[in-house]
Amino acid sequence: MASIDRADPVILGHLLAEHRELFNLLQNVRSTLAEPGEPTAERQQAVTASIEFLRNHLHDHFEQEEGEGFLEEAVTRVPRLSSSAVSIIGEHQTLLAQLDRIIPMLKPKPTGADEDPTPAASWLQIDREFEAFAEHMQAHERRELILVQEGYNEDLGLVE
Ligand SMILES: [Fe+2]
Ligand SMILES: [Fe+2]
Repeated sequence: MASIDRADPVILGHLLAEHRELFNLLQNVRSTLAEPGEPTAERQQAVTASIEFLRNHLHDHFEQEEGEGFLEEAVTRVPRLSSSAVSIIGEHQTLLAQLDRIIPMLKPKPTGADEDPTPAASWLQIDREFEAFAEHMQAHERRELILVQEGYNEDLGLVE
């Protein structure tokens, strides 16, 4: 665990930069999903690739958050944040699992035919599932920033 003896804007800045990067990856998936026209095999591959990229990045981001210990540090400073921190860390696995449910939906239906580009789930269903994930993830990041901000007593002007 990192040793942090004072409010450290570097940690908060790092967290914000990481969240911005994740938001860009999220937008990348959204724009690939929103392209007009039929969901061709190429588009399915493009969406799959953008979701897998996001998934890998998210996995590393969560590992970093858990390893760096700034959530624990926030709790050490402000113990009443403890249950909130446990719940936030618990969401990491749930968020990854949500993406892991979406990726197989993009695989072609097993029909036995050579080239059936129809995905296993409808495009609309994939879109809805991804939006549910995106909302969950953004709510997660927001809760996390609020917690860190409270723990480090540092007003970044992100919370009304
Ligand atoms: Fe997180
Ligand atoms: Fe985060």
